[in-house]
Amino acid sequence: MIIRYPYGALALTIPGAVLAAQPSAAPPISAPLRELPWGQLNFLHTTDTHGWHAGHLQEPSFSADWGDYISFATRLHEKADEEGVDLLLVDTGDRIEGNGLYDASEPKGKYTLKIFGEQGIDVICSGNHELYKNTSSEDEYYETVPSFRGNYLASNLDIFDPKTGKQQPLAQRFKKFTTKNQGIRVLAFGFLFNFRGNSNNTIVQRVQETIKEKWFQQAIRDREIDLFLVIGHVSLRTQEFASIFKAIREQQWDVPIQFFAGHTHIRDYAKYDSKAYGLESGRYMETIGFMSVTGLYTGGKSNPKYMDAAAAPHVARMDLPTFSRRYIDSNLFSFHQHTDLNATTFPTEHGRNVSSMIASAREALKLDKTYGCAPRDYWTNRAPYPSKNSIFSWLQDEVLPDMVLEVGRADKPRIVLANTGAIRFDIFKGPFTVDTTYTVSPFTSGLRYIRDVPFSVAKRLLQIINQEVPQLWPASQSFAFKTPVPSIQASTHQVDEQLFLASEQMPLGKEHPPDHVAELTPGYTTTDDAGSDGDDTIHAPIKFYRVPNALESRIGFPPAAREDSKEYADPVSVDLVYVDFIENYILLALKFLGTDYAERDTDVYMEGKEMTGLIAEWVQEHWKC
Ligand SMILES: *[C@@H]1O[C@H](CO)[C@@H](O)[C@H](O)[C@H]1NC(C)=O
Ligand SMILES: *[C@@H]1O[C@H](CO)[C@@H](O)[C@H](O)[C@H]1NC(C)=O
Ligand SMILES: *[C@@H]1O[C@H](CO)[C@@H](O)[C@H](O)[C@H]1NC(C)=O
Ligand SMILES: *[C@@H]1O[C@H](CO)[C@@H](O)[C@H](O)[C@H]1NC(C)=O
Repeated sequence: MIIRYPYGALALTIPGAVLAAQPSAAPPISAPLRELPWGQLNFLHTTDTHGWHAGHLQEPSFSADWGDYISFATRLHEKADEEGVDLLLVDTGDRIEGNGLYDASEPKGKYTLKIFGEQGIDVICSGNHELYKNTSSEDEYYETVPSFRGNYLASNLDIFDPKTGKQQPLAQRFKKFTTKNQGIRVLAFGFLFNFRGNSNNTIVQRVQETIKEKWFQQAIRDREIDLFLVIGHVSLRTQEFASIFKAIREQQWDVPIQFFAGHTHIRDYAKYDSKAYGLESGRYMETIGFMSVTGLYTGGKSNPKYMDAAAAPHVARMDLPTFSRRYIDSNLFSFHQHTDLNATTFPTEHGRNVSSMIASAREALKLDKTYGCAPRDYWTNRAPYPSKNSIFSWLQDEVLPDMVLEVGRADKPRIVLANTGAIRFDIFKGPFTVDTTYTVSPFTSGLRYIRDVPFSVAKRLLQIINQEVPQLWPASQSFAFKTPVPSIQASTHQVDEQLFLASEQMPLGKEHPPDHVAELTPGYTTTDDAGSDGDDTIHAPIKFYRVPNALESRIGFPPAAREDSKEYADPVSVDLVYVDFIENYILLALKFLGTDYAERDTDVYMEGKEMTGLIAEWVQEHWKC
């Protein structure tokens, strides 16, 4: 492993020296980097960008924007062409929802669809988020599919054409192509996991059914293939990918397979067999995944210029291909280092143009408008819950008690239940802007309630949801987008093990950080099937804490009798208020408690108010700058 310590660090820390990104973005910080493991066939991978195409304005490690990524891809293409190797770009969906750049416009996506389409992507597919609403899947159909015509794959996804009403594939099922420089023959598929929460204008076919279909079975019997490329909005360690892997291997036991994954928002890398690997590249424009495969047979018409093994050693045939991965922190420091370029030589005109498109969109949407200033950082998973730095403690102890009040029911004590998944991102000390409201709580959920629920029942709900039958709660990651996902974490299987072994709340980080951590900035320290050298930037580890499924606030309870040690007296009944998104689970938990509450007993609470708006109002009243 080569660790390159940056020689250009001094120049890079001069304020203003690296400003391409967004004008208000934090400049990147220099850090020791691992080089990109270039090979014969190389990939750049994005996934689950969720509208964060302006980058992270408050986090230096992730401050590059989509325009910078366009420059980066162009520069790496130039390098690939010079070396006679190939570079392909992949995106595995969930491009929308979760950031003001997408959510704040009317209609949603007015700017991001165009911005995203500026990047040249070779293989792309849909996520689940593109399919929650008719309007968002129609955006795919009318804008994104045409932007990436021939490259957008929908192996198990159909849409009802809005004009004809006819069911048809959202995009083509698969594609076969030969790479430009090496002549590698690639057969590519684009899948979505067995998602069921889509609006009824699309149809997601179960992967296990799709692979039985004739077109798929025929495609995988093609002998003129040097690599199978399976991309999916599917996480790596799932039944869906296992079934596809098995189906391909039943027909072709030794053709290499490269998978690209998404959905669970983590960095992860999995080995399926000695010639089949998969990469998942995080979330929110934090990570650009880099992947290389070397030792592929090139059955296509390779460019003769590169067929001389001495001139292009990558071409030399090997028995076993080698696979190699790198998770790039998406910032200009990394981009400059990996391209051997600097602030002057790195950006392309196209990349700069897209950065200005983003800046104008942010301006038009007034995303930098400030509601108030956070007095400190509030973390989703980087602080224990409860604690003063926990965003969930803040919501439970400050925001909800101040904000949740229905005028006609003001004298009723109430229990408010909120899913922690409703809060999606951290709050950083400093300006809390329009943009922050969308990153913290992009959901359009309002509140509903059941009036006069016996306290003896209501008081047991939280425990039911969090401890006794958490299986009532939807299976974690496939649960729409309100799943609590650790901000930054190791690979899934590891985290899960730790989550489920830990009976109490425990930090999920490394026990003994290396001695030199003092010089390193905190960030991703990923462990995957190839070890712990995958991250490009060498960081000090961050501790992560598990949070429960749901939290509750008790509001307007009667004061306790003086001699009682409790804070308040038990009321006879309460209004049971909850975020509307979890209504079905609340009703299930109530059934579990032996009651027969049903939808007819529920009603809107605080008509016209959404969680996002309540949080913004609270910030405006309480956090002065
Ligand atoms: C979708 O659901 C709506 C109402 O929920 C129904 O009217 C419509 O027929 C359904 N469409 C399809 C294609 O199933
Ligand atoms: C979504 O599209 C389907 C199929 O065209 C239609 O039946 C349904 O009513 C639409 N739903 C909404 C909310 O417009
Ligand atoms: C960037 O690199 C070019 C070419 O190597 C050099 O001429 C220029 O001075 C460098 N600029 C900065 C800001 O370091
Ligand atoms: C960049 O934008 C300028 C000004 O709008 C335009 O003239 C130019 O063609 C654009 N270049 C690229 C590569 O997009």
